[in-house]
Amino acid sequence: MRRRSLLAMGAAGGTAAVLGTGTSALAATSGVTADSRIWAKHDHDFDPTSLRALGSRIGMHIGSALIPQDIDTPSYAAIAASQFNVYTPGNEMKWQVVEPEPGVYDWTGADNLVHFAEQNGARVRGHTLLWHNQLPTWLTTGVANGSITTSQLWGLLEQHVFIEVGRYRGRIWQWDVANEFFLDANPSGIDPNNFWIQALGPTCIPKAYIWAHEADPGAILVYNDYNIAGEDGTNAKSDAVFAWAGQMLDQGVPLMAIGNQGHLDTQYGFSGQRFQADLERYTTLGLKVAITEADVRTFVNNATDQVPTDNLALFAQPFEFGQMIKAAIAVPECLSFTVWGFTDADSWVPGFFTGEGYATLYDVNLNPKPAYYELQQDLMESAGVRHHVRTRNG
Ligand code: XIL
Repeated sequence: MRRRSLLAMGAAGGTAAVLGTGTSALAATSGVTADSRIWAKHDHDFDPTSLRALGSRIGMHIGSALIPQDIDTPSYAAIAASQFNVYTPGNEMKWQVVEPEPGVYDWTGADNLVHFAEQNGARVRGHTLLWHNQLPTWLTTGVANGSITTSQLWGLLEQHVFIEVGRYRGRIWQWDVANEFFLDANPSGIDPNNFWIQALGPTCIPKAYIWAHEADPGAILVYNDYNIAGEDGTNAKSDAVFAWAGQMLDQGVPLMAIGNQGHLDTQYGFSGQRFQADLERYTTLGLKVAITEADVRTFVNNATDQVPTDNLALFAQPFEFGQMIKAAIAVPECLSFTVWGFTDADSWVPGFFTGEGYATLYDVNLNPKPAYYELQQDLMESAGVRHHVRTRNG
């Protein structure tokens, strides 16, 4: 029998909520009520040539990661609101930020982002609950020196998932539950040296999905990773994630979608056909897919101006963005296409990849670049490409 995903069966109809240790803490910190969306604006309130309005014609949300500056600076906020209808917090929902000290929570940035989304008729992608990076120091230190035992760590993880997902219950469209667990190797597989795998073993991943589903039965639960749609040349990582996802579904784990980050670099090859084929392969399991962190970096003169040093990059950068969105458009199960920041001015790329930049849709002065017009053009032409009507709840 072909597997049917929980999403296809209606995610909200899943397990009865028998909350674990997270319940009391959830009640203590939850400051919002379920489904309190404001929906002040709609896609048709915006310029019909905006990315969000064009995407809405085919039922695909167009998103961006936001950092606080994108909300607090009017010129940034205007672009965020007018071009995108789903937002991912770049950092503000990561464990390091939300629980800087044990039991001490800071929801300021996350609350601001959710509020900004609701004011602008946009959705939110929660990011991320179970990841080896950007963990609070008290947690990693405690695990390293043994002052946090294995059983305590299980409890902390469960509590973290219940508190965070519970706080925004009914207000998060997709949650990146687990992030970046697979090896960049051939063959690939779950990284045995990953912090969580070393500490708790691989069953912590399905557990996180089960807890997240209990905490918000209406949220689409995503596995998120990079190079899992053909970008690594061998397709080994995609094969490994595909096999693992099938196992999870066979075990009844509420995994509902695969998020491919889409961090590309013009110095490497990239096949849009392979990318699309791999997205389609995930959907054969009954899963949805999403592009969650798209950017295309290249070598630049300096981190401030970010002028490409190779003139061909001026063509390759928008071309690879186009390859990605064309694939996303061609796969009706692709829920959203999200860029990891919309302007080179606040992109993570110059800080993480030495000598590289020019990775986003807008330049450092907030002017749209060829990549912006590429996405706009592809979306304009998309209505005839994607025939399916989106049926997702909400
Ligand atoms: C990045 C942020 O953009 C940076 O600001 C931060 O310093 C490090 O993390 N994959 C992910 C994202 O899933 O969470 C990362 O975001 C980029 C790579």
